[in-house]
Amino acid sequence: MTRPSKSKCIGILTSGGDCPGLNAAIRGVAKAAKGAYGMDVIGILDGFTGLVENRVIHIDEREMSGLLTLGGTILGTSRNKPHKMPMPDGSTRDMTGAAAETYRRLNLDCLICIGGGGTAKNALELKKAGLNVITLPKTIDNDVAMTDMTFGFDSAMYIATEAIDRLHTTASSHHRIMLVDIMGHNAGWLALGASLAGGADVCLIPEIPCKFDSIVQALERRRQKGRRFSLVSVSEGAVYASGKSGAKNKKDEKNDKKNGKKKHQKNHRLDHVVSAELAERLTKATGIEARVTSLGHVQRGGIPTATDRLLATELGIKAAELLADGHYGVMVGLKNGKMVPVKLEDVAGKKKTVPPDHPMIETARLIGLCLGD
Ligand code: F6P
Repeated sequence: MTRPSKSKCIGILTSGGDCPGLNAAIRGVAKAAKGAYGMDVIGILDGFTGLVENRVIHIDEREMSGLLTLGGTILGTSRNKPHKMPMPDGSTRDMTGAAAETYRRLNLDCLICIGGGGTAKNALELKKAGLNVITLPKTIDNDVAMTDMTFGFDSAMYIATEAIDRLHTTASSHHRIMLVDIMGHNAGWLALGASLAGGADVCLIPEIPCKFDSIVQALERRRQKGRRFSLVSVSEGAVYASGKSGAKNKKDEKNDKKNGKKKHQKNHRLDHVVSAELAERLTKATGIEARVTSLGHVQRGGIPTATDRLLATELGIKAAELLADGHYGVMVGLKNGKMVPVKLEDVAGKKKTVPPDHPMIETARLIGLCLGD
């Protein structure tokens, strides 16, 4: 692919798990970069894999048409890292050199990497290898450091809230406990937001280790008030504080030590809340029938909400402005309503989890949403 030498040329890739708003962000960057600053825009396919393998498309008016509302990513995505690319024999290899080679072959002035925390890490590696990079924060998990919100989160929260709404009516008809598994990796933003918005009765998040007895007590309190059904949301990564499900006996501890298992691995294996198991135990403890619904990737699909379209577009436009100024090596974050550049070093390797004093936690406690502690 050739290009006129006078204009800047940028590459865009999407990396990590997809989410609603990715196409809106691609469109935002491309429209401003082309329209306002006269740059050439190249799309790199399937995340960093396409950069290593030199698989690209030109992004023009035609490619941008209809993008604002379209879910997923027209560029495709992958979780592959340039410095740890999977090889056919199962090993991994550092392919940073190949990624840099594609960047130079395409004569790029900058690479826009749209992704979550892992993408920021990868982008930092490329920066260290001499590439100009800018990242945009996306993920349904909302766990990227140094930004108040990631795009994709609002859409996923809307979907999870709607699911809780729908589970309410069937729970109430059958007088059941409904457990709903909500994504979020190791952060509880999505489960907590949807539980507050959907009026769940119990919400288990990774940041607040839960106790089985506290959950049972919350359900019993509801029963005493004449409520014959309950909604329990379980965030991916939710853990038990101690005690059963999870509690390690001395023999387990010894075996783990012998097998050289790290503390967090033990915790993850033994203390993780497994909804199916929790449902069974709750039925035994309360005598109320329980069912589990796993929302899974439904939360990542479909059209973005208006909030996500707007955020993705504004982040993209700010990226184009930074490109024009030659301001590289940053993520564009949302801070107090403004789009601001943040050094990649301050983002990579960090996670934004729900702080114990967050207003949403306070809200949960005030309205009587049991957090399992
Ligand atoms: O990061 C988004 C996310 O959906 C997480 O909530 C979840 O842990 C993970 O991706 C699932 O990844 P995959 O689609 O690769 O199974």
